[in-house]
Amino acid sequence: MRPADLWRHSSFRLALGVTLAVLAALILVGAIGYTVLHRQLADRQDARLLEIFTTLQQSDAADQQDLIEAIAARITASPTHASVFLLRDATGKVLVGNINDVPIGSGWSTVEAEVLGVQTDYPYRVYAGELHGDYLVVGLSNADLDDLAEIILTGFIWSAVAILIAAIAAGAWVAARLQRRLTEVTAGLHRVAGGDLSTRLTLSGRGDDLDLISGEINHTVGRLGALVEAMRQVSADIAHELRTPLNRLRIHIEQAARNAAVSAPVEDDLAAAIAQSEAIDQTFSALLRIAQIEAGARREKFAPVDLAALLADVADVYVEVAEDAGQTLSCDAGGAAWVMGDKELLTQTFANLIENAIRHCPSGTAITCTAQAVGNQVTASVSDTGPGIPAGERELVLRRLYRLEKSRTTEGTGLGLSLVKAVVDLHGAELALADARPGLRVEMRFARIVGAS
Ligand SMILES: Nc1ncnc2c1ncn2[C@@H]1O[C@H](COP(=O)(O)OP(=O)(O)O)[C@@H](O)[C@H]1O
Ligand SMILES: [Mg+2]
Repeated sequence: MRPADLWRHSSFRLALGVTLAVLAALILVGAIGYTVLHRQLADRQDARLLEIFTTLQQSDAADQQDLIEAIAARITASPTHASVFLLRDATGKVLVGNINDVPIGSGWSTVEAEVLGVQTDYPYRVYAGELHGDYLVVGLSNADLDDLAEIILTGFIWSAVAILIAAIAAGAWVAARLQRRLTEVTAGLHRVAGGDLSTRLTLSGRGDDLDLISGEINHTVGRLGALVEAMRQVSADIAHELRTPLNRLRIHIEQAARNAAVSAPVEDDLAAAIAQSEAIDQTFSALLRIAQIEAGARREKFAPVDLAALLADVADVYVEVAEDAGQTLSCDAGGAAWVMGDKELLTQTFANLIENAIRHCPSGTAITCTAQAVGNQVTASVSDTGPGIPAGERELVLRRLYRLEKSRTTEGTGLGLSLVKAVVDLHGAELALADARPGLRVEMRFARIVGAS
C-alpha cells in the first residue's frame, strides 16, 4: 500500500489522530511536570544560597579575617566553581573571591558565567548584600537545573518519536488488514453485480463489524438468488405452459382455413378458436392479477374482515353447485373471527378453494369449510374427501400453471392455488396443504385482531 493510499483509510487516520492526541497530552503533562519540578529545584537552590549567606553572616562581626578564612575554605572546597564567592570591603577592594570583580547589585540575580570569568556553559544564580560593613556576593551554578531540563527534553523527544513510529506502523498494519478484507468484499460484490448470485463472502469468524456486514450481504445475495431463480422458473414455466393452448388455437385456425379452402362450414372451428383465445386471455389476466397481488400494492386497502362470516357467505353461493355435482358442502363457522385484510381477495381465495374441491373431486365427496378464532390466531380451512394431492406435489401445485397430471383435461388454468398463495402471503398469513385422509385439507392461519363491528 502506498503512503497516499494509507491516508485515504479512515482506520489509519483514526490511529494517527489518537496518536496526535496522546502526543499533545504527553507534551502538556511534560510541560507542567517540568515547570513544577524546575520551580521546586530553583526554590531549593535559592534556599541553599541564602543558607550559605546567612551562615557566613553569623560569623564574628569584629573578626574580618575569620570571615575571609571561612570563605577561602569554601572556595577550596569547590574547585569546579559549583559555588562562587566575592568579598569586597567598604573601599571596594577585593578581600577574597574566585570570580571577576564585576559590579553585582544586592539581592537576587542570574549572571552569565562569562561575566564572572568562570569556564562553564551554565549561568549562576547569585545573592549579594551587605555583611559586617563589607559586600558579599555568593553564587551557585545552574548546571544541575539546566541538565535536568535537557534530560527531560531529550526524554520527551525520544518517547514522542517512538510513539509516532509505533502509531504509524500500527495504523498502517490495521489499514492494510482492513483493506485486504474490504478488497475481498468489493471483489465479492463485483462478482454479484456481474450476475454470479452464488457468490458468498468469507467471514473471518471473529464476529466483528465487517463479519456482520458480510453476513448480511451473504444473506441478501442468498435471498436475491432464490428470488431470481423463482422468477426464472416462473417465466420458463409460463412460456412452456402457454405453448399448448397457443398450439390448440393454431390447430383450430388451420382447420378453419382448410375447411374454407373446400368451401366447408368453418363456424365450429372459429367458435373453438375464439373459446381458446378467451381461455388464453383469462390465463394472462390471472397471471397479471397474481403479479399485482405479489407487488403488495393492495395492502393499502386492508380493513377489518370477519373471516367466519365471509367464508359462510362464499360457501352459501356454492352449496347448489356442489349438490349439482353430487357433492355436499357444509360450513362450520361459529363466532366472529376478525382479521385485517382485503375482502375481495379473501372472497376470491375461498371461492378458488371450494371450486377446486368441486372440480377436482368426484361425486359423493363431502366438502367442509371451517373458520374459528383461537387465541391470537384465526384459522380458516377447506377440506374434502376426494383424491387429495400427493405429498410430493403439494408445494408444486402452488406454482403458476402447475396442474396434476390427471387434471390436465379438466377445465382450469392452473393458477387458482397460485392466487391463493399470493393472497395468503400478502396477508402475512400461513398456508398449509395437508392430507385429510382421504382428501385434501387446505388451512390458512391469520393474525387475529380485536373485534370490530
Ligand atoms: N381439492 C383438490 N383435490 C385434488 N386435487 C386438487 C385439489 N385442488 C387442487 N388440486 C390439484 O392442484 C392443481 C392446481 O390447482 P389450481 O391452481 O387451482 O389450478 P386449476 O384448478 O385451475 O387446475 C389442480 O390442477 C389439481 O390437480
Ligand atoms: Mg383451481
